[in-house]
Amino acid sequence: MLFKQQALLRQKLFVLGSLAIGSVLYLVARVGTLDRLQPICPIESKFSTPEPEQIPLRTLQFKRGMLHELQRSNVTKEQIRPHTLVQQLPRAIIIGVRKGGTRALLEMLNLHPAVVKASQEIHFFDNDKNYARGIEWYREKMPFSFPHQITIEKSPAYFITEEVPERIFKMNSSIKLLIIVREPITRAVSDYTQVLEGKERKNKTYHKFEKLAVNSNTCEVNTKYKAVRTSIYTKHLERWLKYFPVEQFHIVDGDRLITDPLPELQLVEHFLNLPSRISQYNLYFNVTRGFYCLRFNFVFSKCLAGSKGRIHPDVDSAVVTKLQKFFHPFNQKFYQITGRTFSWP
Ligand code: A3P
Repeated sequence: MLFKQQALLRQKLFVLGSLAIGSVLYLVARVGTLDRLQPICPIESKFSTPEPEQIPLRTLQFKRGMLHELQRSNVTKEQIRPHTLVQQLPRAIIIGVRKGGTRALLEMLNLHPAVVKASQEIHFFDNDKNYARGIEWYREKMPFSFPHQITIEKSPAYFITEEVPERIFKMNSSIKLLIIVREPITRAVSDYTQVLEGKERKNKTYHKFEKLAVNSNTCEVNTKYKAVRTSIYTKHLERWLKYFPVEQFHIVDGDRLITDPLPELQLVEHFLNLPSRISQYNLYFNVTRGFYCLRFNFVFSKCLAGSKGRIHPDVDSAVVTKLQKFFHPFNQKFYQITGRTFSWP
């Protein structure tokens, strides 16, 4: 009897012991695989390649999963980079317009898990020296991303530079092009304010906006003044339309991006064939800044730099009226071409 009980006890201990050893072995194996992060990078093998236009939901989940694993295990981005991340040419470019809100648009789009931004303005297509360095130089300037993410860069000078449409077309004739515009006079004054600030920093004097915008001899609007020329959106767009069909452009309302960014961002998500992922949670109004700021998660949020959102000088009302009359026909043409109407005067 005693012998039987002892045998039973030994059997139970054996089973418990085996379970314990098995669990330890499983844990060791799991930690080992987590270190290499291979089981959470299934995109290449597990899923077939999607339509280039479509960013699948799994990519979004994958980006979140990867970030989660990076936080959990002690693996650096550099360690996983060679296996999973690539530098991709942009599939969408914010080509302008300078002072339209290009930085805010890029940063806000970067809230989307399937979007990766090039932080710096690359100036590849508008700068001859950079362009001569070749497309691989450009690619190397791009951030690392997962194969199904889309890279976006912004260089507002592209919109107004003669050679750029042809050069971008040669790189990718089906690229998506984003143009963010503001009411043309507001944009011109914003442009002026930026230059003025630069001059003041160097202790240089500068003319008043009125003097630059209106030719004092003819009393006509000075179309040679760059801030005025840049705001003639339709003139620049027409050059682009020699290379790209209008469907490849999306016009963003830069004034609404300031006051109510989410609907504008949702339109861009749709244009880029991305599932709607940016939400009101990601955008909060900062009373001190007077602008919307970005919330990535409960830990990390940020506002744009202080150089965005400068106070504009007052402009003489007669000059404003003159400029309104000047821009009016160009604005009408712009609405007609793009199919997007604004309540600009
Ligand atoms: P102002 O400085 O004239 O106000 P860009 O990035 O193309 O240079 O555009 C700058 C403009 O972006 C700023 O012009 C500002 O009004 C606008 N902007 C839009 N959203 C913004 C935001 N959330 N924070 C700061 N500036 C924003």
